[in-house]
Amino acid sequence: MRSAKVFLPLLLCLHWTWAYSENEGLKQEVRAAHDQTYISAEMWAELKELRDMAIEHRTKIEKLEQQSTYMQLIHVSSSEKEVEELKERKQVNLLTRVTASENKSTVLEARMSSSEKEVEELKREKADRPKVAFSIGLTDAGQVGPFNTKITLKFSKVFTNVGQAYNPHTGIFTAPVRGAYYFKFSAWDNRSSWMGAELYHNDKRMTWIFHHNDRESYSSVSNAFVLQLEQGDVVYIVLSTGYGVYDAEYNLMNFSGFLLFAL
Ligand SMILES: *[C@@H]1O[C@H](CO)[C@@H](O)[C@H](O)[C@H]1NC(C)=O
Ligand SMILES: *[C@@H]1O[C@H](CO)[C@@H](O)[C@H](O)[C@H]1NC(C)=O
Ligand SMILES: *[C@@H]1O[C@H](CO)[C@@H](O)[C@H](O)[C@H]1NC(C)=O
Repeated sequence: MRSAKVFLPLLLCLHWTWAYSENEGLKQEVRAAHDQTYISAEMWAELKELRDMAIEHRTKIEKLEQQSTYMQLIHVSSSEKEVEELKERKQVNLLTRVTASENKSTVLEARMSSSEKEVEELKREKADRPKVAFSIGLTDAGQVGPFNTKITLKFSKVFTNVGQAYNPHTGIFTAPVRGAYYFKFSAWDNRSSWMGAELYHNDKRMTWIFHHNDRESYSSVSNAFVLQLEQGDVVYIVLSTGYGVYDAEYNLMNFSGFLLFAL
């Protein structure tokens, strides 16, 4: 019976409050206050004020949230922009580097091909460069001369004749290319008379080696020359008029020459 007495006014009160309530949240607050059987007008005013404040706060919070989202959005978009810029910069950098290394490799390739060309040229030059070297002895016959005219000595004992520039049948060396050539020749005799020989470049006598053998058992003379020859120039040894030489197994009368370098 007692509980029914309490329950009825509470029910009435709740009904009344529901009628005045404007929103569900407030109703619940009121409902939660189940031990209060009476709510004064002042309290209502206060509650309303509180509610308005809450609404106001919520609006502010929503605004702030919106702002924060916007800021975040701005931040994100600016970060994205930065990332994009970085990417672009990186790409440009990479491109520059790639171009530079491509340039480098182009330069290297050019250098390599020019080096290859040089090597080829050198090879060709080396292959084209005639090899000229000879060493020859005059004869095994012993005494040669004297004659009453100049004669071209035909050195018949060929020891070395690379390039076949010396012709033992004519006694004439012919330059296969323009260049500097080295020549050396020697004469020997053991007779008491004049001995010697002359070196000719084309029709010009370059040097003359000679000796009069008086009391010695033998005498020998020699000379050497570097001659600059044009292709086809000739060099040969001439026995002077009235001069004699001797050669046999020891090759005491000999003639050598080689190409120093082409010009
Ligand atoms: C690559 O070479 C070109 C032309 O030779 C030049 O214009 C360019 O600046 C070079 N690039 C770099 C990155 O060195
Ligand atoms: C000259 O030398 C050769 C070889 O040694 C010899 O046979 C000859 O008798 C020599 N002649 C003279 C005149 O000494
Ligand atoms: C060339 O002749 C000279 C002079 O007679 C002589 O001394 C020399 O030994 C000779 N050279 C050779 C390689 O026989």
